[in-house]
Amino acid sequence: MTDRMPPQVTLLLVGAGLAALGATYWHFYWRKEVCYGSWTSLNKTGLKCDLKNKLFGQHIVAKVILKAVTGFMNNKNPKKPLVLSLHGWTGTGKNYVSQLIAENIYQKGMKSNFVHLFTATTHFPHEAHIDKYKTQLVEWIRGNVSICPRSMFIFDEMDKMHPELMDSIKPYLDFYDNLNGVSYRQAIFIFLSNTGGEKIVEVALDFWRDGREREEIQLKDIEMALSLSVFNNKSSGFWHTSLIDKNLVDFFVPFLPLEYKHVIQCGLAEMARKGHVKNKKVVVKMARDLNYFPKEEKRIFSVQGCKVISSRLDFYI
Ligand SMILES: Nc1ncnc2c1ncn2[C@@H]1O[C@H](COP(=O)(O)OP(=O)(O)OP(=O)(O)O)[C@@H](O)[C@H]1O
Ligand SMILES: *[C@@H]1O[C@H](CO)[C@@H](O)[C@H](O)[C@H]1NC(C)=O
Ligand SMILES: *[C@@H]1O[C@H](CO)[C@@H](O)[C@H](O)[C@H]1NC(C)=O
Ligand SMILES: *[C@@H]1O[C@H](CO)[C@@H](O)[C@H](O)[C@H]1NC(C)=O
Ligand SMILES: [Mg+2]
Repeated sequence: MTDRMPPQVTLLLVGAGLAALGATYWHFYWRKEVCYGSWTSLNKTGLKCDLKNKLFGQHIVAKVILKAVTGFMNNKNPKKPLVLSLHGWTGTGKNYVSQLIAENIYQKGMKSNFVHLFTATTHFPHEAHIDKYKTQLVEWIRGNVSICPRSMFIFDEMDKMHPELMDSIKPYLDFYDNLNGVSYRQAIFIFLSNTGGEKIVEVALDFWRDGREREEIQLKDIEMALSLSVFNNKSSGFWHTSLIDKNLVDFFVPFLPLEYKHVIQCGLAEMARKGHVKNKKVVVKMARDLNYFPKEEKRIFSVQGCKVISSRLDFYI
C-alpha cells in the first residue's frame, strides 16, 4: 500500500509518527510538577482510607486530621494557614501521619518540591548561629510560598527548636492578608514534638486502670491533662505557649502510646511492605522481644512504639 503513495505522503506520515512519539516522550519525562490541579489537591477518599487502614491505634488523630485537612482544603478562602501541632510518645506515628497527609495532597508526596521538612537538630544545630538560621528560614518560607502558595512545611523535633527561631516564623502563621505581597493563607504548617507525651501516657494509663476502652478516650480528656503547665515548662515546650496564647495553632493532635497489639499490626504491615508474605509467628516473636512499660504494672505500652520495627524485623525473617 505504501509503495503506491507519493513519497511526500510517506515522509509526512513518518514525520507525524515521530512527532507523536516525541510528544509522548516529552510528556513522560518532562512532566514538571506545578502548583495547581491534581498536583496539589486533596484526595479525601485516599486520606480517609489511609488513616483508617494504615494508621494503627490512633482514633483521635484519625478523626482530627481528617476534619482539619479536608475542612481547610475545601475552603476556597481560608483566613489563615493551617497549623497543626502533633504531640506524643516516640514511635507513635507523627512523621508517618505527616507523610500520609503529604501523599494525599501532593502527587509526589514527601518528594514534592512543595513539601519542606525541617529538623531542628540537622537544619538548625548550633545555637550560636541562631541569627543566620532566622533570616534563612524566613527567606525559605517566603521564597517557597511565593513560588507555590499551597506549600507544606513540617517542623520536626519542635521541642529542640530554639524559641527565637519559632518567634521569627510566628507572623506567617497569623491572620495576615499578606506580608510584603505574599499571602500565606493556603500554606500548611505541621509541628512535631514529644511535648506532653508523658501526660498523654498518663491519661491512657488511667483509662486502662479503670478498665475502660482505649477508644473511649476523647480529645477533651487529654486537653485537660495537658494543662498549660506542660507547655510552660522551659525544657519541654516553652515555644508552644506563645502559639497557644495567640491561637495560632488550629489543631492540637495527641498521639496515644502504642500497645502490643498495635506493634503486631505494624509488624505485619512492615512485612508486606518489605515484600514478604505476612507471617504472624515471626511478628509475634519480634514483638515479644521489645520493651514495654510501665514496668511495675502489666507493661502495656511499647517503649519505642513502632519505630524500630522496620530494622528489627530483618533479624526475625
Ligand atoms: N500508629 C502507627 N500506625 C502505623 N504505623 C506506625 C504508627 N506509628 C509508627 N508507625 C510506623 O513506625 C515508623 C516510625 O514512626 P514515626 O517516625 O512516625 O514516629 P514518631 O511519632 O515521629 O516518633 P518520634 O517522636 O521518635 O520522632 C513509621 O514510619 C511507621 O512505619
Ligand atoms: C484517591 O485515593 C484512592 C485510594 O487510595 C485511589 O483509589 C484514587 O485513585 C485516588 N484518586 C485520585 C484522583 O488520585
Ligand atoms: C525553599 O526551601 C528549601 C528548603 O526546603 C530551600 O533550600 C530553598 O532555597 C527554598 N526556595 C526559595 C526560593 O527560597
Ligand atoms: C519539664 O520537662 C522535663 C522534660 O520533659 C521534665 O523532666 C521536668 O520534670 C518538667 N518540669 C516540670 C516543672 O514540669
Ligand atoms: Mg518523628
